Amino acid sequence: MVDPFRIRPSVPADLGELTLLEAAAFSDPWSPAMIAEAIADGAAVALVAADEGGRLVGSVVARVVTDEAEILTIAVAPAMRRRGLGRRLLDQVLSALRARGARSVWLEVRANNLGARRMYEAAGFIAVGVRRGYYRRPTEDALLLSCRLDAVTGTEMR
Ligand SMILES: CC(C)(COP(=O)(O)OP(=O)(O)OC[C@H]1O[C@@H](n2cnc3c(N)ncnc32)[C@H](O)[C@@H]1OP(=O)(O)O)[C@@H](O)C(=O)NCCC(=O)NCCS
Repeated sequence: MVDPFRIRPSVPADLGELTLLEAAAFSDPWSPAMIAEAIADGAAVALVAADEGGRLVGSVVARVVTDEAEILTIAVAPAMRRRGLGRRLLDQVLSALRARGARSVWLEVRANNLGARRMYEAAGFIAVGVRRGYYRRPTEDALLLSCRLDAVTGTEMR
């Protein structure tokens, strides 16, 4: 079967579509300025998924600081969900972070976002903390999840 999605690094020309994707995915989305700043950050790893027509249907942004990385945002267009694209974006960003020297990665997720939590847990993330009332619109706790990248690649390290 031909793969209908291509995952590639994000470029500045993606900003308009990324803004729409953010707005469709989150109740408290990043502004275009926040997205532009995150992508331009030299420590950022920003990937997008495009469909066969070149339309952006997914994105992920992460940042590496020394040997730790943080996933800042990940989203898949509503019509394209539950086809494995979120997990592919997650796996690719973890590989890219590992290649940049990160040994562990963490992220925050809304406590009620059970679909995303399931995806992260299947990828090896575990809950390591709670930030009470962290999110706005609606106010909600954040779970802090963490994943050791050297543990995920354990079989490659023999
Ligand atoms: C979270 C998100 C990126 C997942 O993208 P996706 O392409 O649908 O994810 P996948 O198809 O790769 O799903 C991977 C696994 O995650 C879990 N999962 C994902 N969405 C789920 C849902 N709505 N309900 C239950 N489980 C879900 C499942 O275990 C799934 O595997 P399965 O389909 O074999 O059962 C997408 O739902 C999204 O953009 N949500 C809005 C933004 C968001 O919440 N981002 C995370 C912020 S921390």
